[in-house]
Amino acid sequence: MTTVAPPTTQAVPLLDLKAQYDTIKGDIDAAVRQVIESQTFILGPLVERLEKDIAELSHSRYAVACASGTDALLLALRALDIGRGDEVITTPFTFFATAGTIHNVGATPVFVDIDPRTYNIVPEAAAAAVTSKTKAVIPVDLFGQIAAIEDVARLMPNVPIIEDAAQTIGAERRIDGVTRMAGEVATIGTFSFYPSKNLGAYGDGGMIVTQSEQLATVLRKLRTHGGLRTYYHDIVGFNSRLDTLQAAVLQAKLPHLARWSAKRRANAEYYTAALGDVPEVAVPYVDPANTCIFNQYTLRAERRDELQTYLKEQGIGTAIYYPLPLHLQPCFAYLGYTAGDCPEAEKAAKEVLSIAIFPELTRAQQDRVIGAIRAFYGRQSS
Ligand SMILES: Cc1ncc(COP(=O)(O)O)c(C=O)c1O
Repeated sequence: MTTVAPPTTQAVPLLDLKAQYDTIKGDIDAAVRQVIESQTFILGPLVERLEKDIAELSHSRYAVACASGTDALLLALRALDIGRGDEVITTPFTFFATAGTIHNVGATPVFVDIDPRTYNIVPEAAAAAVTSKTKAVIPVDLFGQIAAIEDVARLMPNVPIIEDAAQTIGAERRIDGVTRMAGEVATIGTFSFYPSKNLGAYGDGGMIVTQSEQLATVLRKLRTHGGLRTYYHDIVGFNSRLDTLQAAVLQAKLPHLARWSAKRRANAEYYTAALGDVPEVAVPYVDPANTCIFNQYTLRAERRDELQTYLKEQGIGTAIYYPLPLHLQPCFAYLGYTAGDCPEAEKAAKEVLSIAIFPELTRAQQDRVIGAIRAFYGRQSS
């Protein structure tokens, strides 16, 4: 006998981390208790083990844990010796940290537009923005799919690539017939373990991957005040260590990551099948080269703000990633960009709406979200 999930009138949050914790409580509690028993809280063997496992997952020779995805970008920029007078090309349709860190090392962010289908940087536009001052390019793998990184590499062969893979840990892209992982192909790849990421810590955390031993050594120094021997400093670095407690939580979660991301893909397929016939919304496009991990499931919607308000009234959580592209942020007014400079990013900012996609989401919850969106546009549920 097939069981049909009962209709739910419960609220559907955008993300339900408690639902995930309930499925792995025993492992998490034991891992946390083990760290407390050991009374070793900064770096140490658990962090090293996580570095080894993330390096393996990312097909990278080295991984360096740090305090956040933001710091991962900051350390990557510093490891490439980027600072005052340098330019770094990136996308304006991303979380603030991508460009904030460029500014914070003293360099100038140079924004180029996005592909309206994937929301990722247009490689040709990035290549066209190269000047004698360009010291790096930061493609961002938005919402769970890897940017066209091989095209960035091909069109900008002499420019180091920092791949902002905060949203794509474990995502894959087929390049010339070979499956490449997020972070693998770039000069440096950066991950975030912010709690809402597919692999989320119970606090802040980040990881940097690279194939270069020299860069890995500099990155290790940079995260501990510029030296590998306590109280001896080769360069001026930061305090950006990963807490052992966070490493323990992440290690407990890591065996589940592939299954969780597959569940997100299954949830995405279900939404896409159920919303594909609503002309007022566009479902996400996944580049056929990519295996997307759907950190977000992002629609483009007509009357987006009204839809968001309507869903909120129904107890359905949504979010707008991102409402104002970075080239138009007040803090970057000094760069001189104006509306119209990155039209696709500006259009996306007005239309995108992310809905719940987390792995523990039930079909009944998805049906509620689908029903509410269809009802808003005056369409029967199919
Ligand atoms: C694209 C992108 N870059 C960078 C970051 C910064 O990561 P964190 O919040 O761990 O500092 C995030 C996460 O929020 C992100 O989504």
